[in-house]
Amino acid sequence: MPVREWDGTSYDRISGTMEALGREVLERVQLDGDEVVLDAGCGSGRITAALIERLPRGRVIAVDGSHSMAAAARRRLGPQADVRVGDLLELELGEPVDAILSTATFHWIADHDLLFQRLRRALRPGGRLVAQCGGEGNIDVLRGRAGAVLAREPYAEHFAAWRAPWNYAGAGETEKRLLEAGFASASCWLQPAPRRPEEPREFLSTIVLGPHVQQLPPDLRERFMDDVLVELGEPVVVDYVRLNIDATA
Ligand SMILES: C[S@@+](CC[C@H](N)C(=O)[O-])C[C@H]1O[C@@H](n2cnc3c(N)ncnc32)[C@H](O)[C@@H]1O
Repeated sequence: MPVREWDGTSYDRISGTMEALGREVLERVQLDGDEVVLDAGCGSGRITAALIERLPRGRVIAVDGSHSMAAAARRRLGPQADVRVGDLLELELGEPVDAILSTATFHWIADHDLLFQRLRRALRPGGRLVAQCGGEGNIDVLRGRAGAVLAREPYAEHFAAWRAPWNYAGAGETEKRLLEAGFASASCWLQPAPRRPEEPREFLSTIVLGPHVQQLPPDLRERFMDDVLVELGEPVVVDYVRLNIDATA
């Protein structure tokens, strides 16, 4: 299945909430400053830029499946940056990396077994995977409210054959998958992280409810967002539950 296309310009503008979450993950990565690190699902490069600052003698390889996101990352990081468009499920870097950082990406990928095999293969022995993504229970409330709207006409007919794209895995099952994929050790835990985005409408339509909005014809999209915002009420709270991953190859 092709990787879903994003609006990289819009994401870059309104992803302050995601950057704040991602910076907490970056703090968990132990670095000497001379490593080669993969940013797996770099998006528009906000966290990649912070990672590059931590590697004065090292290098970052940034990979994302969306052309629009990769273009936004290149604009942010400049022409010297190693930004590659590619599906993480087909990852081939051509060299082993010392560490992999990934933020807000794995829950967009259905096949975690294959994902972890690919990431394990990309790491040198002893290399570290430090990641965070949506986990079990992520945005349950928000999805429930959006679901109530999309079950009504004129939206319902567009969702008849729709399948939610997210994979919100639990901690125990993810540890098991990581070990089965060849990691020597793995530690995972869930973390409730509710957030109030600064620009709720664009944040929801670009990130959290992007797949819903893309499913609708253009003339229904703004109306759908109006109805979702009424259903959510004020203030808009995104009931994030994050799955944290620390694993060693
Ligand atoms: C919410 S964004 C997160 C971007 C960035 N890491 C951050 O924290 O702001 C999720 C990213 O994962 C990328 N992505 C999703 N599935 C992917 C796949 N199979 N291969 C590569 N990138 C993928 C999307 O294109 C998108 O840029």
